Amino acid sequence: MTKAGNDPVSVSIENGVGLIGLDNPPVNALGAALRKGLSDAVAALNNDPAVRVIAVYGTGRCLSAGADIREFGKPPQEPRLSDVLDQIEASAKPVIAVVHGTTLGGGLELALACHARIGLPGAQLGLPEVTLGILPGAGGTQRLPRLIGLQEAVDIISSGCRVGTDEAAALGILDGTDTRSPREAALAAATGVARGGMPTRRTGQIVARIDPELIRQAIEKLQRKRPALAAPIKAVEAIAHAEKPIAEGLKAERALFLELMDSPDRQGLIHAFDAERVARHFPETSATPRPVGQVGVIGGGTMGSGIATALLQAGIPVILVETAAERAEAARAAVAGNLDNAVRRGKVSATARDAQLAMLTVTADLEGLADVDMVIEAVYEDMAVKTGIFGRLDQICKPGAVLGTNTSYLDVNAIAAATSRPQDVIGLHFFSPAHVMRLLEVVVADKTAPEVVATALALAGRMKKVAVRSGVCDGFIGNRILAHYRKAADYMLLDGASFQQIDRALEDFGFAMGPFAVGDLAGLDIGWATRKRKAATRPAKERYVAVADRICERGWFGRKTGRGYYLYGDDKTREPNPEVAAMIEAERADKGITPRAFSDDEIVSRYMTAMISEAARVVKEGIALRPIDVDAVFLFGYGFPRHLGGPLNYADRIGAAALIERIETYAAEDAYYWQVPALLRELAHSGRSFADLNKE
Ligand code: CAA
Repeated sequence: MTKAGNDPVSVSIENGVGLIGLDNPPVNALGAALRKGLSDAVAALNNDPAVRVIAVYGTGRCLSAGADIREFGKPPQEPRLSDVLDQIEASAKPVIAVVHGTTLGGGLELALACHARIGLPGAQLGLPEVTLGILPGAGGTQRLPRLIGLQEAVDIISSGCRVGTDEAAALGILDGTDTRSPREAALAAATGVARGGMPTRRTGQIVARIDPELIRQAIEKLQRKRPALAAPIKAVEAIAHAEKPIAEGLKAERALFLELMDSPDRQGLIHAFDAERVARHFPETSATPRPVGQVGVIGGGTMGSGIATALLQAGIPVILVETAAERAEAARAAVAGNLDNAVRRGKVSATARDAQLAMLTVTADLEGLADVDMVIEAVYEDMAVKTGIFGRLDQICKPGAVLGTNTSYLDVNAIAAATSRPQDVIGLHFFSPAHVMRLLEVVVADKTAPEVVATALALAGRMKKVAVRSGVCDGFIGNRILAHYRKAADYMLLDGASFQQIDRALEDFGFAMGPFAVGDLAGLDIGWATRKRKAATRPAKERYVAVADRICERGWFGRKTGRGYYLYGDDKTREPNPEVAAMIEAERADKGITPRAFSDDEIVSRYMTAMISEAARVVKEGIALRPIDVDAVFLFGYGFPRHLGGPLNYADRIGAAALIERIETYAAEDAYYWQVPALLRELAHSGRSFADLNKE
């Protein structure tokens, strides 16, 4: 075998088979060195008379997870992947691919360019490029429809979904399956080809039939469903060229690929991909996590039962404590209902659901937590109640148990101080519904031990959550920023914009829902309780909009009561609530405000500038480790439009100087609310960006 040091490609010859092993951990990304190694290996094996058939396989976790994402946005390096794959397709000697693990993007395109494909059990095949704002640019849009037909190729490419080994074989992506190791399977398949026992063909020579009507309908559907995203539509446009000779089709694919490569969507979507991974780099990563077998959850409400569900789904046994005995059975039923939903959506089998439910114990007694390795308290937001519980946990729990609180904004230091072991106390802020939302804010208090932080991080990994480290402040990263920019929406409401216009403008911008519709969904009583809690400490200079209080005083809490800003019908439709418009007018009259018109652009500008301002303060104060951590919080906890990459990634598109100019303009009406954050001034002064801070 020839392979020097870190060489990402190994080559060996066995019984007339030239074996090319991809060896570029962790996921055999197709970086420049690997592409060159692959191209050289195919050329050398073609020239070697001892070789009759060539086989490519991956060492480690997969054949390849595709192009090296870290090369995107940098000057391209030769050889291009598409050229290497054309070289493979044109190879005089047949080339076989063995597909195992997550074989994605360029990794699957490599397999498609080979002359036959063998899959191992558990492989996941897909072309996820559209989720990164691009399209399969190395022949995927031309070769997949040739192999499996137009409709199936459109579905797979425009959704970016993955298919398993069996489905891939049924679709015709795979020509066979094998249960041996990737290298053994490669040798066996290539030997089969050499003996004439397995047919091979050049995918590019298969004729694809393109139905223009199907293409038109697919594009129309995408425009309706995800109008903000160009990539899926361009990908379908590329597929439409698959009827042409392969060289022409590849040329058309390349032109569309390059258009997308230069688009801001691509930058935003790849930033979002990175955010999920960068956020988990905590300073405490090197500490040794404590083992976590069983976890106690306190509180059987929506949050507690959601957290219990998420733990059970990660295979972790749970003791759920609901001290109100009459609510204990309701809590069990809520968890069971959540697990059932996962079966209904085809995520798990009924057998797996039964096994998960069998790991749940429900009790009314806190003493039942004596032996658990970790506790997650999820009772309602009341400091006295929480400190009372933590005082008792201190008496009950075994030494070394991690004591977590799911508070959304209370002071974790004060909660820790209620125990004699503040080093074991940590904030674990889940987002509702906790078994669906991926974000977990890990709130590190002053005395939290590094191994307790590492334990939380390890647990987040097992639960497949996106863990973001936050310092202690009111609302931590997400709710603190939300509390600030939400006021900007209320101020615009009072100054003349309607709540429907604000919601629509922000939905058009890319948010799944505008702030008033979100308030109705979450329950207006939640914000009302917070405002009452903070009323005594609200600065006199701060503008206050009382519309939401007036709505709550009528007993209208949003969707759950059928009324809020909107009226909700049985069919989930929403209509503006005319009585809210009357309340707004009354408050305007009371405060002597003459309403003025707002353009949609101004609404977005004010809302985003307010969000970015508070986010900049959160970074400056060290509450968030890096700007990208704020982005992760908003992408995975607040439905921020993924193609914009998060509020601070978006901020770089506007630029610090332009943001300061906006704030100074708005400050003319309200100098208390609109203040320029120190970090924005520093960035404008030094010419740096939030992206630069991420690299420091
Ligand atoms: N390029 C560079 N690095 C990659 C990568 C890629 N394509 N895929 C994964 N990595 C890195 C991750 O950043 C991570 O790095 P750190 O450990 O430094 O954080 C490491 O590999 C492991 O990845 P994960 O933590 O994500 O591991 P996982 O097991 O949870 O998931 C995966 C593995 C399913 C492969 C996932 O990483 C993934 O989805 N990767 C992206 C796959 C993809 O989108 N491929 C298409 C690329 S575009 C393309 O190929 C275009 C083309 O046509 C030419």
